[in-house]
Amino acid sequence: MKIKFNKTIILFFVISYCSAQTIIPIETKDFAMVFKTDNQNRLWNIYFGKKLSDISDYKDIDGQYYFPSSNAGMYNAAYTPSGTWNLSEPALQVKHFDGNLSTELHFVNVNTEVNNEETITKITLTDPVYKLKVVLNYKVWSNLNVVEQWTDITNNEDGAIELNKYASANLYFTNKDFYLTHFQGEYLKEMQPVEEKLTQGLKTIESKLGTRAMLLGTPNFIVSFENHQSEDEGLVLLGQLAWSGNYKIDFEIDSYKNLRLIAGINPYESNYYLKKDETFKTPSLIYSISNKGTGLASRQLQSWAKKYRVLNGEGDRLTLLNNWEATYFDFNETKLSKLIKDTKDLGLDLFLLDDGWFGNKYPRNNDDAGLGDWEENRKKLPNGLGYLVKEAKKSKVKFGIWIEPEMANPESELFKNHPDWIIKQPERPEKLYRNQMVLDVTNPEVQDFIYDVVDNLFTQNPEIAFIKWDCNAVIYNAYSAYQQQKGIPQTHLYVDYVLGLYKVLERIREKYPKVPMMLCSGGGGRADYEFLKYFTEFWPSDDTDPIERIFIQWNYSYFFPAITMDCHVTNWGNQPIKLKVDVASMGKLGFDVDVSHMNEKDLEFTKTAIKNYNRFKNMVLHGEQYRLSSPYKNPFASLMYVHNNQSLAIMFNYLSSNRFMERMTKRPIKLKGLDANKKYSVKEINLYPGVKSTLNELIVYSGDFLMTVGVNPEVDTKRTSVILLIEEVN
Ligand code: GLA
Repeated sequence: MKIKFNKTIILFFVISYCSAQTIIPIETKDFAMVFKTDNQNRLWNIYFGKKLSDISDYKDIDGQYYFPSSNAGMYNAAYTPSGTWNLSEPALQVKHFDGNLSTELHFVNVNTEVNNEETITKITLTDPVYKLKVVLNYKVWSNLNVVEQWTDITNNEDGAIELNKYASANLYFTNKDFYLTHFQGEYLKEMQPVEEKLTQGLKTIESKLGTRAMLLGTPNFIVSFENHQSEDEGLVLLGQLAWSGNYKIDFEIDSYKNLRLIAGINPYESNYYLKKDETFKTPSLIYSISNKGTGLASRQLQSWAKKYRVLNGEGDRLTLLNNWEATYFDFNETKLSKLIKDTKDLGLDLFLLDDGWFGNKYPRNNDDAGLGDWEENRKKLPNGLGYLVKEAKKSKVKFGIWIEPEMANPESELFKNHPDWIIKQPERPEKLYRNQMVLDVTNPEVQDFIYDVVDNLFTQNPEIAFIKWDCNAVIYNAYSAYQQQKGIPQTHLYVDYVLGLYKVLERIREKYPKVPMMLCSGGGGRADYEFLKYFTEFWPSDDTDPIERIFIQWNYSYFFPAITMDCHVTNWGNQPIKLKVDVASMGKLGFDVDVSHMNEKDLEFTKTAIKNYNRFKNMVLHGEQYRLSSPYKNPFASLMYVHNNQSLAIMFNYLSSNRFMERMTKRPIKLKGLDANKKYSVKEINLYPGVKSTLNELIVYSGDFLMTVGVNPEVDTKRTSVILLIEEVN
């Protein structure tokens, strides 16, 4: 068969045609994903792997594999429909306007648009019987090997249709073995990795919690091909479903031992109705592909996030002092004014007032009342927030504030005045989580209310410079009075909640495009790349014990750059202040301590460490990250950031185990990412007052030496934390 290629002007995207078959390669700098139509115009996923140098070779790939269409039907469909002859896990399940449950998808056309560094390819499919249109979207950042994939489903049928499953993406891999790493969660134990070899059948990671998806697990995963996940070797795909609600990611090994990956909104209780001519846009699956292990995959994803996704991802971040653990709910103007002064004395940028500042009829003096009543508590703050903002200004620090605007305590004016704004079953007892319930964000009045909470704060106190947006409950008893009243099916609630929240955030960002906002959720309940379009950072966990944080931050680092991670020094953990500050300095540094409880030397150390952080933070926030020694495989953790054209780097080393005879680094740790031909000095910083480094700092090393032999940070029980500054020597 003769195939004619029609090469578009875009270098890394090519479409080829022949009379009966179309071949569509979606290419990045190093990889390709290839689709091919059959003689009935169905579209198949025929390749995922290293890009071939001659695009005309793609047409011969499927002949090398066993892709029969009998057995369980469609294994490698580009977007697997259901109800006809597909018997494996579908990407799409539709009840058509006439009640029919079968869907087939045929290829119609493909379009590509190039927009600077982004290329979007849109593949249109339709059902030959029903007027249902599906557009598969692939946005590619070629140089970074990062792909964002989503699907638009349009109902052009003669009446409403019901989407029973509507995945964002459907991928297919034909390698020999597959290892999945997913990250389990629990309050205070977020992002715990588990690697397992996938075997025939279905493995699903999912959330049904409504909000704060990361409490049980996370929508992040790593697929490692052929071998176990490794930091510097092997083909890996590192992905995330960018959706801030219920997700479901299916990994299905079919009977030919190939892997089908279907990711999207969790269809659990979420049948979505589309009226005639309506389109549903799914959230995105975002992934980074590397053939040099997870290290490169993470750096690609982190660079992408900083440059293209996270709000102000290439900007600066504010260090801060938070009063939460210093005071909890028990504060007044005097106590806060003192903390504001401490903020300045420590050398931090901003004072953050946490929970407890609001509520009068139902004062917020603990977590069982007042949530929802966003007025200053007159007893604690008789002169309002304005007074504190002024105090901050006097001390030349900025002022930030905590809110949790999606929630209410039953003991609140909000709850009493607007019982219909709360998500709860009308005929059943209420079920509280942390003494509170979730507002029905599908309701436009609630959306306005949340918007106004933020807008009023800024209008009344234009100098507010930071917001910590919390979310401390899951959705129980899912039922929306608003949707009932409007005749909207209750199965829209989980989805419309998240869409409603995005709408509010969109409005907030229109009016306040820059103010930094932290995404918090009883710790690490929330963090994803849809939210991070609106937020500058997130709070990875309420667990701030530095040893635990070494692990938690390590795991988040697979998916998120340091600039997005808020890391605070607190009273958690019985470890030295140096370890706490050093660990927190690997992200965006903050403090949640009562300075008056610190001894002199700790205070002196802390002030110097904050000065140091301000000097090196560019490396952490904007540099390239290299994970050097995993605390899961070694008794110590080591990680570095390289910046400024490989002329500057910083290396963090920690003792993470307490096993006798393992509590020291007995050999050097190899550095990464430096220039082999450059010369570097290696100096220890953040030394505790009176302590001298044990390292010989006079040696000048070549980059080659540091990356081949390495350097021993001499971590041991007396030196549980060692930060090394690596500077080019001319
Ligand atoms: C959550 C957050 C904490 C703090 C409290 C306030 O638990 O994770 O940092 O803000 O809420 O109630």
